[in-house]
Amino acid sequence: MTVLEGTAVRLRPLRPAEYPTVMAWYQDPEAVAPHDRYLVDTLEGLARAVESAEGDPGSVAPRFAIERRTDGTLVGLLGYYRAHPVLEYLDLWYLIGDRTARGQGLGREAVERLVDHLFRTTSVERIGAAIDAQNEASCRLVDRLGFRLEGTLRSALFHHGRWHDVRVYGVTRPEWDGRAPRA
Ligand SMILES: CC(C)(COP(=O)(O)OP(=O)(O)OC[C@H]1O[C@@H](n2cnc3c(N)ncnc32)[C@H](O)[C@@H]1OP(=O)(O)O)[C@@H](O)C(=O)NCCC(=O)NCCS
Repeated sequence: MTVLEGTAVRLRPLRPAEYPTVMAWYQDPEAVAPHDRYLVDTLEGLARAVESAEGDPGSVAPRFAIERRTDGTLVGLLGYYRAHPVLEYLDLWYLIGDRTARGQGLGREAVERLVDHLFRTTSVERIGAAIDAQNEASCRLVDRLGFRLEGTLRSALFHHGRWHDVRVYGVTRPEWDGRAPRA
């Protein structure tokens, strides 16, 4: 069982008792992580997806729960998946499902811990994120962590009744290792 400790967040496995909270987040129309809608419709489906994720590099099931350290509350989820059938990078996704916990730096710290962990424990040279171009908070999050904007996929995501452009961000291992420590 992998647990990653940050200053304000702890990343740990999701617990079955938390599945109903996760399903409620997935059904929140404001949650814009694109994979939520493709994952599951039922608690049983969520349980199966979470439990089989470890052996499935392409799984978009949550791989870590984001817990706020001050009170142990579950505030969000993190996932990563092999995003291409041939190319060998990983893409991340993240959700601060508890709206009251957004905008406090928890998302950024959680993603930073996860990127550290993935570069330490896998051989990938690039980690990416595909983000709705209108999702300002998410774009800022990865930008501030040192990801580079590599391009834009036009009309690649159907969401809220229309097609959205998707920005492709990425960071390479040498870039991550050479980052200046953040103030
Ligand atoms: C995107 C999300 C994960 C960001 O997590 P968070 O903990 O709220 O964000 P942080 O507090 O770490 O802030 C990250 C950056 O976004 C900015 N930000 C936060 N909320 C914002 C908002 N509503 N509008 C614009 N910028 C915002 C912060 O100011 C910060 O930028 P800065 O460092 O330049 O100040 C979270 O808002 C969320 O889960 N949203 C819904 C799901 C989603 O969009 N997932 C990502 C899909 S790719």
